[in-house]
Amino acid sequence: MWDQAQSLREQYGSGRQFVYPEEDRISLARKIAVTSGKGGVGKSNISLNLAIAIARLNKKVLLIDADTNLANIDILLGLKVNKTLADVVMGTAFFSEVLLNGPEGIKLLPGSSGMIEMVEQDSAVREKLTKAFTEFEQHYDVILIDTGAGLSNAVLDYVTGADDVVLVTNAEPTSITDAYAMVKVALYRNPMLHMHVIVNLAPSRDHAMGTFDKLRLAVRNFLQVDIQMLGFVPVDPNIPIAVAKQEPFITRYPRSAATNAVMMIARKLLKIQPSRDSQKSGFLTRIFQQKGS
Ligand SMILES: Nc1ncnc2c1ncn2[C@@H]1O[C@H](COP(=O)(O)OP(=O)(O)O)[C@@H](O)[C@H]1O
Ligand SMILES: [Mg+2]
Repeated sequence: MWDQAQSLREQYGSGRQFVYPEEDRISLARKIAVTSGKGGVGKSNISLNLAIAIARLNKKVLLIDADTNLANIDILLGLKVNKTLADVVMGTAFFSEVLLNGPEGIKLLPGSSGMIEMVEQDSAVREKLTKAFTEFEQHYDVILIDTGAGLSNAVLDYVTGADDVVLVTNAEPTSITDAYAMVKVALYRNPMLHMHVIVNLAPSRDHAMGTFDKLRLAVRNFLQVDIQMLGFVPVDPNIPIAVAKQEPFITRYPRSAATNAVMMIARKLLKIQPSRDSQKSGFLTRIFQQKGS
């Protein structure tokens, strides 16, 4: 039988003793990457509000902001970032100082884009970060990562290291094409990944299904893989207002169409079997293994 203690021992380095009582196993969080080929499709808003929706379903949620765009999640929440992971890496802050309190019990780890590349070459920092991540994974039920857009390594590291991938697109041909490119590159790196699609800014359910079908058919025809529809978020005028007020739409407009949609998506997501066993290894260990570094 698989031994989690062994996995943790590996994470902490072979030279160290790590005592882990068999009867007191701690389960590791499910890691869900929220990504998109193209920027500006609503990924950060969906990540933030989905994180709160999952928390409403009695899960402890950590939201990692790895998006480099201007509309960072701390801004969407009106929070001030004092310390970042860069401070932790430089030794001038503890991880606990970087975590921000979000609404409804969620925690936010801001400024995490490029983190993997940042620590890749420095074994001491890498070990420190891996250890901290293992603690996060033991403490939370779900870790949701807003990965940023595009196909850079900084994005793909998170996508291919996650247990599940949520791919956000809208109906624009550029958005669908870029989402297809993301599926192709992510599956090339990790053929076991399951991709779940959210169509954002959909005028109707039928329209959303039409958008999903375009993506699904391209993926099926050219990559011989099936992707799943997770749900859609309608065009909702409350969203830009909530953004301007620096409050999540799910808390500001609890009865809006977008809130209902995100709650449905959260319920469905938690029912889906993860594409890999989140218990098998720690997130960063897995990512570094995949990179062969
Ligand atoms: N379903 C929606 N209905 C209306 N406006 C939306 C919707 N989703 C996103 N938006 C708007 O689109 C903008 C970009 O969203 P954002 O989450 O920052 O995208 P990304 O993270 O993909 O770059 C937001 O400022 C928001 O006002
Ligand atoms: Mg964003």
